[in-house]
Amino acid sequence: MAPYGSDAASVAALLGAQNYAISTCATIAELADAIDDRAGVILVTEEALRADLAPLRRALAAQPDWSDIPFILLAGRTTSRAASGEWVRRQLPENALNVILLERPLSGESLTSAVAAAMRSRQKQFEIRDTIAELADGQARLSTLLSALPVGVAFINRDGSTLLSNPAFRRFLPSGDIPSRLPDGEARWEGYDADGRRITRDRFATVRALKGEYVQGMEFLHHPESGNSVWTRVSGIPLKTGDEVTGAISVIVDIDDEKRGQTILAEAAQRLEQQVAERTSELTAALARLEAEAKERARAEEALRQSQKMEAVGQLTGGIAHDFNNLLTGIMGALDVLRRRIATGRIDDLDRFMDAATASAERAAALTARLLAFSRRQSLDSRPTDVNRLLASLEDLLRRTMSERIDVSIAFAESLPLALVDANQLENAILNLAINARDAMPQGGLLTLRTHLAPLDSKYCAEHDGFVEGLYVAVTVSDTGAGMDDATLAKAFDPFFTTKPIGQGTGLGLSMVYGFAKQSRGHVSIDTRIGIGTDVTIYLPLADEPAERPEMAKQPVHDGDGQTVLLVEDDAAVRLLVADVLDELGYKALEAADPQSALAVIESGAHFDLMITDVGLPGMNGRQLAEIARKHLPDLPILFITGYAQNAEARGGFLGRNMDMITKPFPIDVLAGKIREMLA
Ligand SMILES: Nc1ncnc2c1ncn2[C@@H]1O[C@H](COP(=O)(O)OP(=O)(O)OP(=O)(O)O)[C@@H](O)[C@H]1O
Ligand SMILES: [Mg+2]
Repeated sequence: MAPYGSDAASVAALLGAQNYAISTCATIAELADAIDDRAGVILVTEEALRADLAPLRRALAAQPDWSDIPFILLAGRTTSRAASGEWVRRQLPENALNVILLERPLSGESLTSAVAAAMRSRQKQFEIRDTIAELADGQARLSTLLSALPVGVAFINRDGSTLLSNPAFRRFLPSGDIPSRLPDGEARWEGYDADGRRITRDRFATVRALKGEYVQGMEFLHHPESGNSVWTRVSGIPLKTGDEVTGAISVIVDIDDEKRGQTILAEAAQRLEQQVAERTSELTAALARLEAEAKERARAEEALRQSQKMEAVGQLTGGIAHDFNNLLTGIMGALDVLRRRIATGRIDDLDRFMDAATASAERAAALTARLLAFSRRQSLDSRPTDVNRLLASLEDLLRRTMSERIDVSIAFAESLPLALVDANQLENAILNLAINARDAMPQGGLLTLRTHLAPLDSKYCAEHDGFVEGLYVAVTVSDTGAGMDDATLAKAFDPFFTTKPIGQGTGLGLSMVYGFAKQSRGHVSIDTRIGIGTDVTIYLPLADEPAERPEMAKQPVHDGDGQTVLLVEDDAAVRLLVADVLDELGYKALEAADPQSALAVIESGAHFDLMITDVGLPGMNGRQLAEIARKHLPDLPILFITGYAQNAEARGGFLGRNMDMITKPFPIDVLAGKIREMLA
């Protein structure tokens, strides 16, 4: 800026040669307009300042803070050296601070170095400008972030005053001040320490942070001036320069939802716990009830079983009593008539009554035999038996027993193994089944008897109670009769259960078959369909040993010739009877009513040739007595008389060498036969 001469042009030429961009202004006003961020340095001559400087002053005042544009003032030649500097300097407006004074005449060198220095200083200002702009940018970003942040943040000065706070912070603290500085701060911020003590302002988060402590998430229940209380989490972060705390950041997070969620969750958990407890106690009660009911039911079932048992026993005893009464009436009546006839001498027609009494007695014997069979206490003489042959021998009898309207068919299994069974009892059982079949076919039909080999497998035995797996010889008796309904089938094996009219059935047939089969270690099954017919099968165990050869023809027996027999029997009537038979047969009987008297006889050294003893004796059984007798007379033949063989399914295990057994009641000739046989 040089108003006269060629100064401007020559300076411009000089600097232009050094690659500076030059702009020349003719007036102060023009210069004022040209001052902007791109201007590096202003060269102005002293003379140019003799104008109105107001526009330049205004332009300088309008500069940004960072800008202090350098002036190079070219002083006049005439200016006195002493005063010129300060004086010339004062020609510029007072807000032009960065001034370099150059005196004319100018050397090109000093001008260039002054311009270079001024440009360097201006360059520094530009750098400051850029830094300020960057900082302003960062600040803008930070303040955008802070205002958008859902978390309350405040920058706190060292003295606790707030430098900066965001809207979220001011939601809790409208003044922007931290709680410790508010008079009601402690009332509005409710927090507790680990010991449950209310937290006082000196322990608030930011206060502690200002002492250098990092405070992480203290929970406060905040009570705002209006509205509901809010759960918050407050943290305090110290700001440090080196070790010195220069301030702090206070952070407030709204955790109300989380906290209330926790409370709801805790309440729900508690409710659940309570419900579980209630439900558990209900279940326990229900269980106890169930247990009580189960006990009650078990008791009721037991009572029912007991009453059913009593009913069965009642039926049994009633049945026995009924049948025996009839039979006893026959026997006693006949004996009575006999007694009267003999008393009055009318002995011509006694046989009829004796026969009637005998018939009744025989029926009574048959009845007890079936009862014993059912009770599985009959004395079984199980031997290897050819069931085919046994059935064949029955065929004739069976055909005669059936009515003309019933066809009989018999099928024999080929190469059937021997069964271990009491042949007489098996015959009996088959006859009973055949008679049942006949009774089920009053209009006639077909009776089939069939022998077969029956393997009973584990599946069958699992489905049929009481069956034992194995191979059996089986006899099946089938009819095409009425069949049985479920109720009848369930009771068919019960003793005295009959559907037949009074007098026609005792109801002991199937119970005998059942008891006999079980005692023989076999089984019975019934397969029946109403209107179609019934199959009853007896399963018998296989015999390991071969069949005995048919017994040799018996030696002709001769009656006794005075041999002695020791007779041990506690029942006086039986003893009398047997003694009489012995007497009749020509033997001498030594009688003993109990084991003690028998022992006395044995130990006296008396000689006898045979001992006949009851099995069931008071004090000692017949078998034990036999043992003792054998010690004295090792070869003594012994004949047991028994009502039933206790626990003995078969006589094999019971009888020793040269021993035999006869079952009560027995016909006298059978007894006589046995005695003769044993003494032969
Ligand atoms: N083959 C069968 N068909 C249909 N029902 C039968 C047959 N066998 C037995 N029952 C039924 O089972 C009942 C009992 O039979 P069980 O042989 O034990 O006695 P009962 O034949 O009635 O008399 P008892 O045999 O003593 O003379 C019979 O009354 C009958 O109702
Ligand atoms: Mg019968």
